[in-house]
Amino acid sequence: KLITGLIVTLALSFSLSTSALARTVVNGIDANYPPFAYVDKNGVPAGFDVDSMNWIAKHMDFEVIHKPMEWSTIVQAVASKKIDTVMSGMTITPERKAQVNFSDIYWSVKNVFVVKKDSQLTTDSILASKGRVGYQTGTSDGKWLDKENKAQGWGLQLRQYDSSPQIISEVLNGRLLAGEMNMTPAHDAISKGVPVKIAGNIGEHEDFGVAVRYDDKELLKIINQGLKDLMADPYYEQLKQKYFAS
Ligand code: ARG
Repeated sequence: KLITGLIVTLALSFSLSTSALARTVVNGIDANYPPFAYVDKNGVPAGFDVDSMNWIAKHMDFEVIHKPMEWSTIVQAVASKKIDTVMSGMTITPERKAQVNFSDIYWSVKNVFVVKKDSQLTTDSILASKGRVGYQTGTSDGKWLDKENKAQGWGLQLRQYDSSPQIISEVLNGRLLAGEMNMTPAHDAISKGVPVKIAGNIGEHEDFGVAVRYDDKELLKIINQGLKDLMADPYYEQLKQKYFAS
């Protein structure tokens, strides 16, 4: 009896004393989505989402590593257990929710058209142009644009690319009339002196969440708690300054 009691006490105190997961969490990122996630010039994952996830892991006592992945198959990679989470500027959509669960919303963005800096184009004139417009493969905003382009009969010639920096260079070299993307990556390029500007908004705003497998209940709870604590911590202001100040 004594021994049973001891074992129960030990087991209980072990499970209570730690929120740590007995495994390393692998967070999938897009290597080219500044300021949310990217790989810096030393090959180190960086960005608002990467730093946020690192803070949450430290605070909630688990190990995390960041793995650059192809964006168009990244949700499938979570569902099939190749990776555990995606915190990398990912929009919560009904289509993705059919495959994976999401944390609470931690960020919201608008979608925009990016054009050359000296351009006179507006959202309306782009939509009326029947011109060439680029978006990133597998993005929620790109899918929306594709659907509306057909439904509204805009007749834009849509082209897909693997990353938003690629889209921006195609705008610069004139192969694209405009690029469509979340506003923050566009701002990031502009703040770094790339000669592009935002022509105007397009579509609905999008809410970001962390993708987690449905059966990973413990991890979801930990991440939601971590997000809440992060947003209440002074470090969060520093993070926003660091990545969104300009
Ligand atoms: N927020 C949009 C989406 O979820 C665009 C994301 C592109 N993000 C990225 N890390 N590549 O599809």
